[in-house]
Amino acid sequence: SGDIFRSRPVMVNDLTTTHHHLCHLESTLPYKLSKLKALATADDDLVLPAQDFSQQAHVPSFEKYLEMYKRSIEDPAGFWSEIASEFYWKKKWGQEVYSENLDITKGKINIEWFKGGITNICYNCLDKNINSGNGEKIAIHWEGNEPGVDGFLTYNQLLDRVCQLANCLKDNGVKKGDSVIIYLPMLMELPIAMLACARIGAVHSVVFAGFSAESLVQRIMDCKPKIVITCNAVRRGKKVINLKDIVDAALAESSQNGISVGLCLTYANESAMKKEATKWQKGRDVWWQDVVSEYSTKCDVEWVDAEDPLFLLYTSGSTGKPKGVLHTTGGYMIYTATTFKYAFDHKPSDIYWCTADCGWITGHSYVAYGPLLNGATVVVYEGAPNYPDPGRCWDIVDKYKVTLFYTAPTLVRSLMRDGNEYVTRYSRKSLRVLGSVGEPINPSAWRWFFNVVGDSRCPISDTWWQTETGGFMITPLPGAWPQKPGSATFPFFGVQPVIVDEKGKELEGECSGYLCIKSSWPGAFRTLYGDHERYETTYFSAFPGYYFSGDGCSRDNDGYHWLTGRVDDVINVSGHRIGTAEVESALVLHPQCAEAAVVGVEHEVKGQCIYAFVTPNEGVAYSEDLRKSLVVSVRTHIGAFAAPDKIHWAPGLPKTRSGKIMRRILRKIASRQLDELGDTSTLADPNVVDQLIALADK
Ligand code: WT7
Repeated sequence: SGDIFRSRPVMVNDLTTTHHHLCHLESTLPYKLSKLKALATADDDLVLPAQDFSQQAHVPSFEKYLEMYKRSIEDPAGFWSEIASEFYWKKKWGQEVYSENLDITKGKINIEWFKGGITNICYNCLDKNINSGNGEKIAIHWEGNEPGVDGFLTYNQLLDRVCQLANCLKDNGVKKGDSVIIYLPMLMELPIAMLACARIGAVHSVVFAGFSAESLVQRIMDCKPKIVITCNAVRRGKKVINLKDIVDAALAESSQNGISVGLCLTYANESAMKKEATKWQKGRDVWWQDVVSEYSTKCDVEWVDAEDPLFLLYTSGSTGKPKGVLHTTGGYMIYTATTFKYAFDHKPSDIYWCTADCGWITGHSYVAYGPLLNGATVVVYEGAPNYPDPGRCWDIVDKYKVTLFYTAPTLVRSLMRDGNEYVTRYSRKSLRVLGSVGEPINPSAWRWFFNVVGDSRCPISDTWWQTETGGFMITPLPGAWPQKPGSATFPFFGVQPVIVDEKGKELEGECSGYLCIKSSWPGAFRTLYGDHERYETTYFSAFPGYYFSGDGCSRDNDGYHWLTGRVDDVINVSGHRIGTAEVESALVLHPQCAEAAVVGVEHEVKGQCIYAFVTPNEGVAYSEDLRKSLVVSVRTHIGAFAAPDKIHWAPGLPKTRSGKIMRRILRKIASRQLDELGDTSTLADPNVVDQLIALADK
């Protein structure tokens, strides 16, 4: 399977003697840049920053980084409060900049930053930038699915639109602390809706518009929103997706379950569907365009405590029930703003485009909040990245003169397969920094991204982080140090990654194990909504004293970090996090499915794909129709992005005598590594394995 799949540590032999691990803050540098330069020609796995890039960068050298990093670890309160002081606070935080307990053996897990500080993130994104003279700067360039369809909003215009919606929400009874579900595609109305909630202290819960009605119901039942904001339909590529139908189904089911949502505010996206064609429930459904513009463009902000909740975002874990990750206001604000500024080397003249959807954390932190807090100009793209052809991204880059381009390895690999011609026919000379997120980027995709897309000029920020972390945790700072293709490199300011073994022992130097974080950082999530116990057991009990990420990681002799993927029952499909248990529950809900077991298998473009072993009910024959309807079951229970790529018929599943499914064996069968099945003697019925192998391509 080539190099694609996990990147491996690359050692730079000569450095081992001078190396000291930087997390331990030795006074000696891990290496000297001059020495690395000498090595660069000998070992092309080091990609050095161009001198002119480094000279203009926020962090121009590794020395500067170390100085800042050291301060951030030795004096987190001083480091972060200095940065926080650059933002607007109605009232400054109390004496303690932060307080934390990450040790479950010492009591309740608790993280607080800037407690007592009174602020508002919407004010800091919009009013603050306007007050400093940037009102006429473009905040959002919006590019529609169809080439030629576009629009923009200046910071002034964005504030007006946000205030109108905020007033409308208030008028409909939304108060501080209430939740609002937003089920919208990448229209400008999506960040507008997020900001409007933030302005009035409401807690937004954006649900990615690719989730099914049932997933939406689950989230509605959990957070009981006052209002759902959606649109009638959207075009993605050649497809039209009728979102309102999905919302209608979800609202009907929720109200049967006792949760009635009184208002469904629907944006009429007439490029995808006419108003007249939209199904309508009088009394509950209201067209956005009919009401919102009637409201004043002035709306006072609701000042909130730094620790008041900002948003909920559901993510997958190792059980069937999605987790409502809760982020609060102050720490998240400071953290997303700071990570954005440094990891992309953002300057006021930059034009920034992140291809992620606001339905995921990447869109929250790095389409909306982080960039707007920096007064950036952001491109928001509605459509599919390869529509009408695989050159669309570079067409958009040239059209808006994008300087910072942030995307996922899956898109890089897919465009790489389409051929260089689609890239090289565009200039791309505006590009300055490239970014990657979602999964480890394999070295060959990294090199293609670097050499072909970035013309070997643009550093790549391979940012490792998670929904839970709020912002970047391990990431290159462009220009500050040499890169190694496939490595997320070093920790961001204030972040102390540790790699531990099964027993929780911290490993030193060159090592490989479970990635944990010691101490809190401002952007950390504070709880799982309504289930603080699950928060504690999932993240803080495996290795007491640390936050456990769920990822494996190795560190090489130069201190570079290499993420190796999830170590739990979560699979990463095109950068989307999917719990195997969720897919299994969706499969067994099918009336003809007796049992199912799902594993992730390497996939050339998606990184991993979903491979399902299914045992139909007694007497039910294997058929193409059954296979199709099983896939439909997953689409309706979760969403199309979670549809299994392969259904493998299983007369039985390999189980231990105590009934536990041995996924290790299923993974080997799924990836056809049949000579690596290992010990099957502990299985209750070892014959199951031969049966499965016989059915592999049936
Ligand atoms: C999981 C988090 C954070 C935004 C997107 C996904 C994987 C993410 C990287 C990277 C290696 C990465 C991890 C992580 N991941 N970025 N640069 N290198 N792995 O957010 O849905 O919360 O998923 O994505 O496995 O745990 P998410």
